[in-house]
Amino acid sequence: MKITVVGAGAVGATVADNIARKQLCHELVLLDIKEGLAEGKAMDMNQTAALLDFDTKITGSTNDYSKTAQSDVVVITSGIPRKPGMTREELIGTNASIVKGVTENILKHSPNAIIVVISNPMDTMTYLTLKSSGLPKNRIIGMGGILDSSRFKYYLSEALKCSPADLHAVVVGGHGDTTMIPLTRLATLNGYYVSGLMGAEELKKVSADTMIGGATLTKLIGTSAWYAPGACAAALVESIVRDEKKVFPCCVSLDGEYGQKDICLGVPVVIGKTGWERIIDYKLNAEEQDLFNKSAEAVRSMNNVLATLSI
Ligand code: LAC
Repeated sequence: MKITVVGAGAVGATVADNIARKQLCHELVLLDIKEGLAEGKAMDMNQTAALLDFDTKITGSTNDYSKTAQSDVVVITSGIPRKPGMTREELIGTNASIVKGVTENILKHSPNAIIVVISNPMDTMTYLTLKSSGLPKNRIIGMGGILDSSRFKYYLSEALKCSPADLHAVVVGGHGDTTMIPLTRLATLNGYYVSGLMGAEELKKVSADTMIGGATLTKLIGTSAWYAPGACAAALVESIVRDEKKVFPCCVSLDGEYGQKDICLGVPVVIGKTGWERIIDYKLNAEEQDLFNKSAEAVRSMNNVLATLSI
């Protein structure tokens, strides 16, 4: 098993670190355009192997894609992160050409790889990767919903004073501050609806906090987050390489499911060795479907911007 992570910034390096700790592969390549950065971070991680007891070998590469050849899974984190006050959508001009170029380079050396997209604006970057690569849709997975759901569980656990691990709570729709939809109606604590355990106002606040979860961190740190994005991406990669068939909300190409077509948007999917294997229909109620349609509208108008860029 060989995995490549493109981008050795905070998110990419944390994805790689989590993959190594979980020993998901023997060969792990970390690639970046900045001279020496990936090699340095790879060496730093390799020096934790004795202590953390993994035998994954991490190789750093300065933009040499031949080192990524025959990767089974490739995680794309390249691009600039947002700064305080910025939306993920404002990154499109810079990140679209970076992500398109990375995808081309990756496919030259790993034509059979499953691609996980993290770069923002993630829904549009996933759509771009799908369209520009021409790959079967099941091999392109955008990572955003797992992260948003993990934040949703965090805020719920704080409000309910319970373990986040006992919660099932899902965010669907876009990975944007105003496009994501925390499904409060379906959230449960060990199978019991959380709406029966907390007030409606409190639940609304949890939902609102979840939606700006990334922005809250960006404001505090000065750049976007990496621990949760890294852990979430590694959990996704784990379900692929171990064929776990876990259900995660991921950004995938919709072809009529959830009432949408020709768009990549967050819905619950089964993740296994062939990528995303099938979509689970949560049967949204009218209000949720309305929000989902609005989210699709916003993401679609962002996707339309791609045509105006010279990439
Ligand atoms: C976040 C970025 C990674 O939500 O999109 O933290």
